[in-house]
This record gives sequence, C-alpha cells and structure tokens, in this order.
Amino acid sequence: MRKVLVIIGSRREGNSLLLGKRIVSMLKQMRVPTSYIIPGNQKIYLCTGCMDCDQKGYCDFQDDMQENIRKVKEAELLIWITPVRWNLLSSDIKVFMDRLNPLYASQGLKGKKAIHIAIGAKGKETYSSEGAITSLGSFAESAGIKCIGHYTLNHCLQVKDQRMQEKKVNYLLQQIKQNIESL
Ligand SMILES: Cc1cc2nc3c(=O)[nH]c(=O)nc-3n(C[C@H](O)[C@H](O)[C@H](O)COP(=O)(O)O)c2cc1C
Repeated sequence: MRKVLVIIGSRREGNSLLLGKRIVSMLKQMRVPTSYIIPGNQKIYLCTGCMDCDQKGYCDFQDDMQENIRKVKEAELLIWITPVRWNLLSSDIKVFMDRLNPLYASQGLKGKKAIHIAIGAKGKETYSSEGAITSLGSFAESAGIKCIGHYTLNHCLQVKDQRMQEKKVNYLLQQIKQNIESL
C-alpha cells in the first residue's frame, strides 16, 4: 500500500506518543512506509479563516504545514491519535485540521482513508472519548475521507495506565493491522 501518516495529538511524552510509536513500529514490521508527526511540536500558525485558500489552493503562511500538507497528500491512510480534552479532540489536532483547508478546498482529502483513536483518562461510561471520536468522524465525513476503524482507550491518565492495559492495547494493534491488511 501507499504511505501511512500517523498524526499524534499530544506534545507530551504520554499515552498518545507511546501508542503512536507502537503503531509506527508495527507498520514498519509490516513493511508499510510510515511516518509520524506531532503538530504540537511544530510551528503551525492558527487558521485565520480568511478563506483565500478556497480560491488559491494554498495558504500564505510559511510554516511547517507546507511540509505536512505534502505528507498528507502522499498518504493513503491517516491515523489520528488524539488525547481526549473535555470530551473533544486536542487543540493541536484541531489547529492541524483547520490548516488542511487548502487541501480540502482542492478536493485533495477526498478518497483517503483514516483510522481514529481517542485516549482518555476516564471510563467509557463517564465523560470520556466518545466526543473526540465524533469530532474526528465529522471531519472525515466533511472532507470525504473514509474512516476504516475507530478505537478508544480509556482509563489512561499516565503512561503506566496504558502499560497496565497491555491486552487491550495488543487487541487494538491487531485490529489496526487487520484494517490495513484489508485495504
Ligand atoms: C485539559 C484537559 C482536559 C481533559 N479532558 C478529559 C476528558 O474530558 N475525558 C477524559 O477521559 N480525559 C480527559 N483528560 C485526560 C487526558 O485525555 C488523558 O490524560 C490522556 O491520556 C492524555 O494523553 P497524553 O498522555 O497523550 O497527553 C483531559 C486532560 C487535559 C489536560
């Protein structure tokens, strides 16, 4: 398959990064060309909503989104990993998504595939990951991206919490592997 781009929505060395690295290493073993980005560690200006990109197909801001957009263009599959923030996706993911508008405007996201993952500290029954999954799903639907799998990992506040759920994480990795093999 063509390339996979993993987008990690937390800038701390936490649960999103740990899971992201495990996914990248699994994909490398599967010989799938994969790269990852952490938008929160990059220089990305906020979208001003000027809408110029709707006409021009590009944004005038000179920042890391130029390279990111090139990577998104090349990728067949986007794997989004967001920490849950107030039952929504992280601001780092949102800023990145907004700046994909030039690609959206030129229909450049249409036909891509996505896997959505939300990691939260609370239990599924409380205010946890569902809102984040819904936001990722809405973005994909608006952009014409097909979501081929969505997953939540709950009860993860610190990295040790994820390590204690090894069985669940392995199951999640297996599901993602199957999603990718079916492409
Ligand atoms: C501002 C803020 C809001 C949060 N809101 C929620 C929430 O609504 N539900 C939840 O389950 N966890 C929430 N959390 C906890 C994080 O989602 C959780 O600790 C996650 O593992 C963080 O991912 P990271 O380690 O990759 O940063 C919140 C954390 C922060 C900092």
